[in-house]
Amino acid sequence: MIRISMSLPKKLLSDFDNVLKDRNYQSRSKGIRDALKDYIVRYQWMNAMEGDRVGVITVIYDHYYTGVMEDLAEVQHEYREQINASMHVHMTKEYCMEVIVVNGSVNTIRELTEKMMRLKGVDHVRLTSTASGESLDSD
Ligand code: NI
Repeated sequence: MIRISMSLPKKLLSDFDNVLKDRNYQSRSKGIRDALKDYIVRYQWMNAMEGDRVGVITVIYDHYYTGVMEDLAEVQHEYREQINASMHVHMTKEYCMEVIVVNGSVNTIRELTEKMMRLKGVDHVRLTSTASGESLDSD
């Protein structure tokens, strides 16, 4: 085992600790290891997809964060050919959720997903897609 130290926002750590408590974890280190594995598996799953897909990207962001709305709009305009529709939900006073329906090459959709993930002010991005490898024009 290698020992690391890291800085985290207070709220993130307390949210994480609450999850660990709910799940009856005895050790925070084990919780972090499991969370990291989950992150890696999700990334690998996303990378294993091929071809054309229909999917949904869910984005949660803090609309008080300066520039985040403009950045998200810019990225989405860049990928307008893959975006069929989007819905904006004012989730809480602070947070907005955008649900974006995408359709096209998985490589491009992945690129879009990761660009949004890297934006400052964006808290959460998740791509879900049809699980099977069926082609879109099968019926
Ligand atoms: Ni909003």
